[in-house]
Amino acid sequence: MRALPSDLPDGPVLVPCCGTFPELAALTARLPGREIVGVDLSAGMAARARKRAAGNSLVRVVEGDASELEPASAAAIVSVFGLQQLPEPDTALGSWAAALRPGGLLSVVYWPHSTEPGGPFTVLSDVLRERVPAGDRSWEERLVPALKDAVLERDEPLSFPMVHPDADTFFTAHTRSGPMRPLASMRGEGFIAALREEFLRRAPEGEWRHRPFARHIVARAAERA
Ligand SMILES: C[S@@+](CC[C@H](N)C(=O)[O-])C[C@H]1O[C@@H](n2cnc3c(N)ncnc32)[C@H](O)[C@@H]1O
Repeated sequence: MRALPSDLPDGPVLVPCCGTFPELAALTARLPGREIVGVDLSAGMAARARKRAAGNSLVRVVEGDASELEPASAAAIVSVFGLQQLPEPDTALGSWAAALRPGGLLSVVYWPHSTEPGGPFTVLSDVLRERVPAGDRSWEERLVPALKDAVLERDEPLSFPMVHPDADTFFTAHTRSGPMRPLASMRGEGFIAALREEFLRRAPEGEWRHRPFARHIVARAAERA
């Protein structure tokens, strides 16, 4: 959020993959008077985001696919932990960069393939890999090239502490309401029970603290010549 300056061009700030819109408070505080538009594919998430935005006439939430945004439509684009969920993240990032107006700013944080040694994300991924082949992560190398004419200002790891009451709570959240929910629905309860058992066997007892690394990419669209 510290990357959002006041010298943005006219236009809205778009927030692809806004989920329940936790980014909103920081954006409205830093950019008073600015139109802010959240986009999320999930009707449930969009409904929660609208609830959070209620009463602020400058904020809208659109239910839809954020993989492709309208070219030259935004003053800034801020996206947190959504990019890695898109089918073609590098193509989406290219579209987001192209959606900036001249001088506009893109700030994207996502979960890369490797986030930490030994934490719950890694342990879960190791257990999963023994049963489900890894997806293609080659798109991560294509992210910076996808920015095309936008100038890369920052490409850095970001890390904050996370605390889970215990491994079982982490596993339940991850598989019921987190990124592994689609897999859980597809594979069924027996698969998830076996996965849980192996995950818990490898996990530490009690509270689990970790500091996973996300990747933060910031780019600025060139000013008009
Ligand atoms: C991990 S959540 C992050 C939400 C929020 N930005 C946050 O930091 O809490 C990722 C969100 O991306 C949304 N999402 C996934 N694919 C999407 C797509 N193609 N278009 C728009 N949103 C999408 C999901 O519905 C989910 O709400």
